[in-house]
Amino acid sequence: MKASERRSGPRPTELARRLLVWFDANRRELPWRATRDPYAVWVSEVMLQQTQVTTVTPYYLRFMERFPDLEALARASEHEVLHVWQGLGYYSRARNLLAGARAVVERHAGRVPSEVRELTRLPGIGPYSAGAIASIAYERRVPLIDGNVVRVLTRLYALPGDPKRAPLARELAARAAALVPAERPGDFNQALMELGATVCVPRAPRCEACPLAKLCLGRARGVERELPELPKRAPPEPLTMVAAIVERRGRVLVRQVPPEAPRWAGLWQFPNRALDPGEPPERALGRLLGARVERAELMLRVRHRVTRYLVTLDAYRATPSERLRIEGARWSARGELGELAMPAAHRKLARALG
Ligand code: ADE
Repeated sequence: MKASERRSGPRPTELARRLLVWFDANRRELPWRATRDPYAVWVSEVMLQQTQVTTVTPYYLRFMERFPDLEALARASEHEVLHVWQGLGYYSRARNLLAGARAVVERHAGRVPSEVRELTRLPGIGPYSAGAIASIAYERRVPLIDGNVVRVLTRLYALPGDPKRAPLARELAARAAALVPAERPGDFNQALMELGATVCVPRAPRCEACPLAKLCLGRARGVERELPELPKRAPPEPLTMVAAIVERRGRVLVRQVPPEAPRWAGLWQFPNRALDPGEPPERALGRLLGARVERAELMLRVRHRVTRYLVTLDAYRATPSERLRIEGARWSARGELGELAMPAAHRKLARALG
């Protein structure tokens, strides 16, 4: 590393060249990398936000088989889209993707825009997705920033501070923009993310395998493992919930989450609620069902993470003594439960019912 580089970091062109050589030799062959179709790039990048590549792959393949092009998606119902998305989580992504596809049909005659400004006017497309679509599908020289890029750049330039906050967030945006080469901008952006996902990983970066190790200020100063300086996340809070499995003549009670709910809007669940501290489950089930519950038998316990909670969901077979009054509920034949879009935990309960 030259003396000037030790102060300000490596030259952008040299860095891009090295990174692309590495990417060409080391990139993972992923299904969405076989295409530059803007719709396919859009779908994959929406799925890849907040979700790992290995989880996304089967969902992506199923989604593209079911909705092979933008028109097919725009014609679909929300229920169909949620059904293909079920289990992937963050369901507002699916609803926004559908709204975005319909907006492209209405406003852009079915052609996905190529400019960041137009892209970010579409539902569900923020700066990250816009940068990904514009650079990967249309070879526009625009940057993108995700968690992987933040990690690579803060280490490469030894940048302290909270990357989500003002001085550093702005600096990262400027650095990322300055780095994107005129040639192969989409590959460059993917290479940065790929490096962050496979080499410049959070706890134990594999610097010996890194094409940028010699240029890395963080490594030269021995601070690579301390960066980025993300604010400490509080450990998840435990939360116990009960779900009621009520069966009557081969039908099971389910309800649809209302459209304005913060999570799982439009999906189907078994009736459920959080337990108050010290509350016996029978009582919670009774309040949940608006009826006295005579018998409740624990059927299955499912643990899962929901935002800042570590949820223990106890599903009880419940036999209420009176008629039930539950808004948005319906009796669904057991054999039809598979047709409803459900969050992962409730899908497990439905499978356990057979
Ligand atoms: N993470 C999100 N999108 C990605 C992409 N296109 N390549 C590598 N990692 C990613």
